[in-house]
Amino acid sequence: MRRLALGLFMPNCSNMPSISTHDVVPDQWTYSENEALALRAEALGFEYLFPVSRWRGFGGETNFLGTSLETTTWAAALLRATSRINVFSTVHVPLFHPFVVAKMGATLAHLSGGRWGLNVVSGWSAREFGMMGIELAEHHSRYARTAAFIKILRGLWDSAAQPFDFHSEWYSVVAGEASPVPAVQPPVANAGTSEDAKQMTAELCDWAFISTPSVAALGAITEDIRDRAARNNRTVRTAIFPFLLWADSRSEAEEKLAAIIEAKDGVATDNWLHDLTAGSGSFDDFTKDMLAASGGGVHMVGTADDVTEQLLSAHDQGADAVMLTFPRYREDLERFALDIQPRLLQAGVVAS
Ligand SMILES: Cc1cc2nc3c(=O)[nH]c(=O)nc-3n(C[C@H](O)[C@H](O)[C@H](O)COP(=O)(O)O)c2cc1C
Repeated sequence: MRRLALGLFMPNCSNMPSISTHDVVPDQWTYSENEALALRAEALGFEYLFPVSRWRGFGGETNFLGTSLETTTWAAALLRATSRINVFSTVHVPLFHPFVVAKMGATLAHLSGGRWGLNVVSGWSAREFGMMGIELAEHHSRYARTAAFIKILRGLWDSAAQPFDFHSEWYSVVAGEASPVPAVQPPVANAGTSEDAKQMTAELCDWAFISTPSVAALGAITEDIRDRAARNNRTVRTAIFPFLLWADSRSEAEEKLAAIIEAKDGVATDNWLHDLTAGSGSFDDFTKDMLAASGGGVHMVGTADDVTEQLLSAHDQGADAVMLTFPRYREDLERFALDIQPRLLQAGVVAS
């Protein structure tokens, strides 16, 4: 039976996951908090840790995600602190040369016994890139560059392919080689669900890390990605990042959600939306309140039974992994282990 892998979308940035001033956990972004969370997730049988990569916050009262840990150095420390769990780094293509990422990736694979993976993001925030004097390319061209970037990584991670030449509008590789190479190619994920993102993912990536406005809308997205991958004789797994909020009763959970939305940081949410809507297609069907509450994760709200049902339904609709987010990560992970994980185990979809 196809399993549902458990993971965490980690709070390596401030104010994760809600764009709200409600009940913020101030030190949640720090390395010591991240490490404690990683160790606990590993002990509970979680398989993946995914970070957020940010270079600038979104202003407003929260300056949402404004304080953040860089995700390759963060991954190096976490991979040495843990022993089984897989850790991804998220890299903005226009900010790194592929040779640098190939070398960082080979090092992370080497020091972790092959537990590292790469999430590539093509960049979308003019606010962030503008700060660095980097102009955002047109949407289609961003993904064409990302495709070239991944092809070079694959070559630099494969000794049989070396030395190799590669020429594109963005990169010129002449007799490219790198050593060491990882024992197996690290998994590459792409985050995004626009047409350009889905096509590039189907052709070159192992994971599609996606947003969905509702569990009901998920099936069509995973099917589309699966079909596109099949046309390229490939398999791509899909991961979503649900926002889990549960209480003893549905009304209590809904009240908690309403309190988060009530305290939303309108300025940061607007800044986020303003940047995202410039050419992107990944969050078109989210309302502003939904985005503010979960930072773009699909809401799963209600009792523990309701949330379990929604996770099972996401699995039925093709999700291979869920990178969970919670209002209060440390406390809610313990609650998840008591309230929801046993229900998923009983349903036979997660590993014991
Ligand atoms: C699950 C998920 C995680 C993402 N993580 C990051 C991130 O860490 N840093 C970042 O700049 N963008 C991140 N993004 C944004 C994407 O890279 C992408 O630019 C955005 O979804 C718009 O994609 P589109 O232009 O293909 O629609 C993430 C998107 C999703 C769906």
